[in-house]
Amino acid sequence: QELQMNLEQIEKGGYEHFMLKEIYEQPNAIKDTYRGRLLADKGIIQMAGVEDNLEKFLNADRIIIVACGTSWHAGLVAEYVIEEFARIPVEVEYASEFRYRNPIINKNDVVIAISQSGETADTLAAIKLAKENGAFVFGVCNVVGSSISRETHAGAYTHAGPEIGVASTKAFTTQITILTLIALRLAKANGTMSVSDYQRYLHELELIPSKVQEALECNVVAEQVAAIYKDATNCLYLGRGYNFPVALEGALKLKEISYIHAEGYPAAEMKHGPIALIDESMPVVVIAPNKGHYDKVVSNIQEIKSRSGKIIAIVTKGDVQVKELADHVIEIPEANEALTPLLTTIPLQLLSYHIAVMRGCNVDQPRNLAKSVTVE
Ligand code: AGP
Repeated sequence: QELQMNLEQIEKGGYEHFMLKEIYEQPNAIKDTYRGRLLADKGIIQMAGVEDNLEKFLNADRIIIVACGTSWHAGLVAEYVIEEFARIPVEVEYASEFRYRNPIINKNDVVIAISQSGETADTLAAIKLAKENGAFVFGVCNVVGSSISRETHAGAYTHAGPEIGVASTKAFTTQITILTLIALRLAKANGTMSVSDYQRYLHELELIPSKVQEALECNVVAEQVAAIYKDATNCLYLGRGYNFPVALEGALKLKEISYIHAEGYPAAEMKHGPIALIDESMPVVVIAPNKGHYDKVVSNIQEIKSRSGKIIAIVTKGDVQVKELADHVIEIPEANEALTPLLTTIPLQLLSYHIAVMRGCNVDQPRNLAKSVTVE
């Protein structure tokens, strides 16, 4: 028993929980994901699984992404990025729905299955169905040699290292990294992005690990904010564009480890229902980086404020406008809009982590949840 405890402590590398360790591992995990694949100075992105099947991707009528949970959220980010960069239509499906709804799958479809564990039963079944219908199936997995990595025609590992915490953290950001690399590679081949933009993205991606490191400095503020809202019973997460999926992911993280009911929404959808929930006891986490739909997010914040909701805003360093409106701001470094999910995710992970710890929850092994869902 004692030996077991010591072993676990060693594995946690000085952190109180695996989840916190894994949150802090993200700068290196992202670097490991693009190591040998992103050669920014040479303007090259190379991934054997993509290179060997480039024609299939380029000739695809559409890309269908199948996944569950956090991996599905990474798929949603990828939808925005692939469509924007490579102009290939993308659909994102819950694997559990896809497998049972008699979907239309053609041989010109490319299916990307995303899974940290590579063992998720529904995702595996979706892959089998896609293969039976003649689609080319590409896997994005973390666990090397996992069932999904063996069942797919080709793929790319995220190389995030083992993720022990049930709540997925570094798997999410490394999935986004690899899918962004794929989007850029396809954009280059398709000629849908200017050479200068392509080059700029490559260099920006290289800077992401140090920006994630900088984003992690918000830990102290995240802990302070957590202390204020740890007893909340509900929480709303809002984001737009690339950060809409991050809002979903932020809400999932809070739900699964702190057992606080949380919902993620595209910010503009608020007025179609959730706004009715807002009062002085409702914390609303708004992802509001200075790019893209900033002005629209600012007006969403005003709508929340006028109904006395408590606003926790994730903003870009140096932000002025949102700071004036929000009750709390957590800052992330400046980044290109399409890459902001890699940064905005960090404070949301930390916020959930601290809230869960303060509520005395079992952060690494939340009730009712398993790390790999191998049954449907
Ligand atoms: C994430 O925090 C969850 N524990 C869960 O949603 C997870 O992402 C989902 O079960 C999918 O797992 P996979 O990536 O291993 O397929």
